[in-house]
Amino acid sequence: MKHNARQRCHRLTDGRSVHAITLTSDTGLEVTISTLGATLQSLLAPDRHGASSDVVLGYDDFNDYLKNDAYFGATLGRYANRIGEGRFFLDGREYRLSTNDGRHTLHGGAIGFSRKLWDIHDVDTGDAPTVVMALSSEDGDDGFPGTLAVRAAFELRGSQLAIRYTAECDAPTIVCLSNHTYFNLNGLAGSTDILGHELTIPADSYVPIDVNSIPTGEIRAVVDTPFDFRTPTAVGMRIRDARETQLVRGRGYDHCWCLGSSPTDEPRLVARLRDPASGRTLEMLSNQPGLQFYSGNFLDGTSVGKQQRMYRQSDGLSLEPQLLPDTPNRPTFGTARLAPGAVYNNHIIYRFSAQ
Ligand code: GAL
Repeated sequence: MKHNARQRCHRLTDGRSVHAITLTSDTGLEVTISTLGATLQSLLAPDRHGASSDVVLGYDDFNDYLKNDAYFGATLGRYANRIGEGRFFLDGREYRLSTNDGRHTLHGGAIGFSRKLWDIHDVDTGDAPTVVMALSSEDGDDGFPGTLAVRAAFELRGSQLAIRYTAECDAPTIVCLSNHTYFNLNGLAGSTDILGHELTIPADSYVPIDVNSIPTGEIRAVVDTPFDFRTPTAVGMRIRDARETQLVRGRGYDHCWCLGSSPTDEPRLVARLRDPASGRTLEMLSNQPGLQFYSGNFLDGTSVGKQQRMYRQSDGLSLEPQLLPDTPNRPTFGTARLAPGAVYNNHIIYRFSAQ
């Protein structure tokens, strides 16, 4: 394997092997993805002085990813975000899912794609080094119908990392995949939080939640609320405003912003995140209609991450392009249905720069 794609093998304490692929580009970007959960384990990016730091949260020890309740860097599936009451109807039949968030299903259920060992399908060591991981999710996996063949392609091209999730089924099912990377562009997660990061989300509306973080069904305008990120705004500026019930329910931001009514053909800009301290900027592009912005509200110091640092509230934030949450139970939110012969496609691009 050429130097721009290195592979290492780690033996878990349960005897299984995890492979980690590190892709490097000549712009100083370096990303490591592991087969346990098709997880983005580290991402080194240069700051305005050219100094590289790891800008994503996670663990040094791959065994810690077997639990990974915070879903650091993980690929989410078969259904990212929540499905209310852990059940849905498809073509007139009810399906019951495994529940792992009270009565509800979160990020695919008790196991989900994030705790499975994926296969390495292909590695390309060309100018845009790429690793493609594959997973076969059997009929009935966590309660979902139909066998699903999933691919996750991670491609590094200059200062841009693209993730392309595709999936095909042999019987009608529902699918919503995403990636749950937590960013701290300062590169010092576990020392500084993300409240000073400036965030832009070009969305006019978002999905309000109930006390269990399940959508109420309403789509609400962001104007005149702390959910208006249409111009660059520090994440921490309004996050403690308890007059906004939605912030109280989420313990901060933990909501889906609406960018459209259905997936688009090509990715377009869905978020910009800038850390004034390091000068690093992340532009995120996606073809998905929703963007879950989660400000790391449940990080409480019980996760000890890389370099023996404890992660506490808002030490990182995640931006997860996806369908609107609970779409299978909300016809007005669109559809999550995938039929045999069709290809599910979630295309995410992270574009880095520093000034
Ligand atoms: C987020 C979700 C949060 C929380 C988190 C994992 O995607 O919106 O409510 O469950 O994952 O800790």
